[in-house]
Amino acid sequence: MKGFPKDFLWGGAIAANQIEGAWDEDGKSIGLSDLFIYKPEADISKLHTANMTQAEVEFAVNDKEGYYPKRHGIDFYHTYKEDLKLLKEMGFKTLRFSINWARIFPSVEDYTPNERGLEFYDNFIDEIIKNGMEPIATILHYEIPLYITEKYQGWKNKSVIDLYEKYGQTLLERYHDKVKYWIAINQINLLHIEPFLSIGTCIDTVDNFEEAKYQGVHNQIVGSALLKQFAKNQGYDVQIGTMLADLTAYPENAHPDNVLLAMKHNRLNYFYTDVQFRGAYPGYIKRFFDESEIDIKVTAEEEALLKDNTLDFLAVSYYFSQMVSMELNKEQHVSYSYSSAKKNPFLEVSPWGWAIDSKGMYNCLSQYWDRYQKPILIAENGLGMYDKLENETVNDDYRIEYIKDHLIQLRECIRDGIEIMGFCAWGPIDLVSASTQEMEKRYGFVYVDKDNLGHGTGKRYRKKSFYWYKEIIETNGENL
Ligand code: BG6
Repeated sequence: MKGFPKDFLWGGAIAANQIEGAWDEDGKSIGLSDLFIYKPEADISKLHTANMTQAEVEFAVNDKEGYYPKRHGIDFYHTYKEDLKLLKEMGFKTLRFSINWARIFPSVEDYTPNERGLEFYDNFIDEIIKNGMEPIATILHYEIPLYITEKYQGWKNKSVIDLYEKYGQTLLERYHDKVKYWIAINQINLLHIEPFLSIGTCIDTVDNFEEAKYQGVHNQIVGSALLKQFAKNQGYDVQIGTMLADLTAYPENAHPDNVLLAMKHNRLNYFYTDVQFRGAYPGYIKRFFDESEIDIKVTAEEEALLKDNTLDFLAVSYYFSQMVSMELNKEQHVSYSYSSAKKNPFLEVSPWGWAIDSKGMYNCLSQYWDRYQKPILIAENGLGMYDKLENETVNDDYRIEYIKDHLIQLRECIRDGIEIMGFCAWGPIDLVSASTQEMEKRYGFVYVDKDNLGHGTGKRYRKKSFYWYKEIIETNGENL
């Protein structure tokens, strides 16, 4: 029976804004992720950072009191050499990481690359390769520089396409012979859930926020195609991929209205990749725009660009499945809408309410493969939990069980003939949560002694899952 391919890329994924810290070092300017404060008194369901107003941005920029966890991460900017050794010890074959735009182009007034920022990534990428790992770079993972919000009101402004293009070209020129796999934009569909972090537009700076969101993402789709075109014209031996956060939903039951609701909900998650792999906007999304009074500016030149520059692979982050129900969506005024999810009674949830569903991974990857036939990278998967450090380790059997179950389903996909490039466990070393700013929502195989307010020694400890994942990699998943 077919198992994991011989050259399977086992590894992990991290993001600059959640791990590096050093938020104002070596010329870096402030980025949007640096604006999120941690408030101990808030309940976890309210720690979300979906939207921001102009006043909230201004407050965060000037605040001298609050603790902003992503400004500090786990100090990886200074510790990466030691941290990479731990990943090497587990036998990592790949590391997916992101580059922080505000390190490379800190200012829009003088839009020239910051050599000190580039030097950091020169050394970091060399170190990844020296430790035997294939580097996979994400060009933008929630690291939008603040000037994009302040000067342009975010990605809705077409000038941002040029800035991103120059940023991306700078990276491709410098690293194309070291980094083969590039993800243009992290989770391009997450603007449904985290619009501010995704497109950088404050909720109170535009009249039609929905339109700004979709114009912003269209501009990102154009920016990604421009980088693909550039790499192709330069003759670089690289692959440019796109990325979805899987948000595939099941219908609550077999009532045809629920089945159609789920299908339409899912289409609103697929339209990004429908454009990026098939080269044109599908009819259903044009209908959704019409009915929702969303008028996106798409030029004929952009249409031609998208048609000729479809992307090479699909990166997917998968954490949970969803279930939608007409009962929660009765108020719908358009044929298509992004639906609210209902708790699935058949699934357990994590303390953050994320439904644990390994079979959902088999389900969604099969849908993606059947739709696109593009190689798939599991760019993120894992379980965020509260861990307890005891006797210098963490007995995280829950994490082992979660990842094991997902790998078993991944093997099912491979047996079906789906081309899976690799598996990147999210946050192999504990890092700051993207959605809640908590350090204590931990995903790692390595524990970092640091709490939500930044207290702790910063010391690293190997968890039980560290040894388990090491063995999985050593045996190429044969003993699952
Ligand atoms: C993905 C993001 O959506 O989920 C990561 O790409 C993020 O940046 C991960 O950290 C897990 O989410 P969270 O909110 O638990 O950190």
